[in-house]
Amino acid sequence: MREHEIDGIHVREQGSGLPVVLVHAFPVDGRLYEPLLRSGVPGARLVVPDLPGFGSSASAHVTSLDDYADAVLRVCDGEGIDRFVCGGTSMGGYITFAVWRHAPERVDGLVLMDTRAGADADEARAGREQTAQRVEAEGTAFLAEEMVPKLLGPRTRTEPEIAEAVRTMITEATPAGTASALRAMAARPDATDDLGSMNVPALVVVGADDEITPPPAAHAMADALPRSRLEVVDGAGHLTPLEAPDETRRLLEGFVGSF
Ligand code: MLT
Repeated sequence: MREHEIDGIHVREQGSGLPVVLVHAFPVDGRLYEPLLRSGVPGARLVVPDLPGFGSSASAHVTSLDDYADAVLRVCDGEGIDRFVCGGTSMGGYITFAVWRHAPERVDGLVLMDTRAGADADEARAGREQTAQRVEAEGTAFLAEEMVPKLLGPRTRTEPEIAEAVRTMITEATPAGTASALRAMAARPDATDDLGSMNVPALVVVGADDEITPPPAAHAMADALPRSRLEVVDGAGHLTPLEAPDETRRLLEGFVGSF
């Protein structure tokens, strides 16, 4: 694995071949994909950024998911990557939709893991604002306590190493970056109507025990995408690449091999 900085963004990279950019979920960081980065995915050049304010990337001014999409595209420019498979987990999926809106001509394929196309309802938006204010006042420790049990499925929740890795990522995120991401997610547009235009191969993956973006949301997304394949992963919750890395690797290898 290689690690470097591009334009203030910390990037982990592994392998050579088809460029596959994987964007992390909220409120974790690129270490979500560490098991994949350790082993690699045959045929893929994995590129994993830490979004501003998460992991080893400093906070930056972010007002919408488009700012994160810009960061992803700047990373690709810096890597000399013109076209790539764009993928993400949960918030990383929302950002994948934003990348598509900005630069569909650069996207050769999509990997959508534990995510959904719809926007937030008003109640969820209000809840995100309350959480953002609390994070700004108290930091991120409370968020780790609240979120670890929701992010992980029943099988991995009791695995101390996985739970600890998630807790560490959440507590190491900056309060400013975490609050910005909450507000950016609340403001995101509904991507449902865009799905029909995403005429590239798409791999949709969901943990069978995902409580945040459950399998029906993945089914709906896969049905609306013109060239999709849906995979439901047993024993995983909302962070499938970390909870079921072998299965995720197998699915990615098959997807990459189809190009
Ligand atoms: C994530 O995992 O990125 C978040 O849980 C997504 C969300 O809060 O909508």
